[in-house]
Amino acid sequence: MLIIHCPPVYGENYPEFNDDAYFVSSFKMSKISSRILKVADKIINELESGSGCVILKNTYNGDSINRAKSVLLNVCRHIGWPVSQTPAPKFIEEIAFRKTNNKISEKAGYRSRASMPLHTDRCDLNVLFCHTQAKSGGCTRVVSSIKLYDKIKKHMSQSDLDAMESYFPFSRHGENAEGESCFYLSKIFHSSARRSEFVAHYIRCFIENDEMTKAFSLSESMINILDLIDECAKSDDVGFNLRLCKGDVLFLNSHTTLHSREEYSGAENERLLLRMWLSHPLSRALPVDFLHKFKNLSAGSYRGGIWGNEDVRLFYEEQFLQSRIR
Ligand SMILES: [Fe+2]
Repeated sequence: MLIIHCPPVYGENYPEFNDDAYFVSSFKMSKISSRILKVADKIINELESGSGCVILKNTYNGDSINRAKSVLLNVCRHIGWPVSQTPAPKFIEEIAFRKTNNKISEKAGYRSRASMPLHTDRCDLNVLFCHTQAKSGGCTRVVSSIKLYDKIKKHMSQSDLDAMESYFPFSRHGENAEGESCFYLSKIFHSSARRSEFVAHYIRCFIENDEMTKAFSLSESMINILDLIDECAKSDDVGFNLRLCKGDVLFLNSHTTLHSREEYSGAENERLLLRMWLSHPLSRALPVDFLHKFKNLSAGSYRGGIWGNEDVRLFYEEQFLQSRIR
């Protein structure tokens, strides 16, 4: 992991970020700074060719959520293009405990205080800004999927090794068109001798749930692989636990790292992280199994995220690609 210390990037004088409705104009109006570009080059190099994990420390120490969003937007402006995180386009998501009438979403996911199991996000780069940390709990675990891949192979029988080349079923979570299967098939690890070509993605609850059990039967070796991933990911030699501090910006390459979160305590909104998902010009090419999730596989393309429909995605692609990143 690369840790970069810097003084607060923007002070209290920096204009507040208004609303997602103005996101594109805020993005285009934000200025490219040569000082931040140099830092951004280091960040991208570490994310694509190094550990896949960077922390930029002390970017903002105020309490305004809207100024914090401005800081995050402006830092990310030097690295890549934002992609939406919800069907109605949203480019900065607040990760906080919120009470809802939906007991299921209160117990799981980014609106809850519950632990989140090991997973990858649906983006090239996952960026988390810490506005306020929980008083207790809430640590993030970051695991190198390259180191994890090497480790689990050492614990495998020949049949498990053969199953590593299997295509696992991943739930489409209701995004399937009429007549289309409720899952798509993808390998978990796309290994390569070259670090710059390695790609992995994993969310066990998308592979194993009630819907998937009815639709697809996993072999014993496939289940062994899932168990090995979860067990080996706890080792110190493949990952580390991280307690983000106020003003920290954590960057993760979603193709070479996995992450999880421990449970935390506190009232609604007490712990607050801001999240952006980015694609960027120096990203790697993706395997064809990623087409369902990413819509575009070419290196350096605008891809990933969650969108209501393809026309909306194409509209924002056009808007953002007009902007020079580097
Ligand atoms: Fe995540």
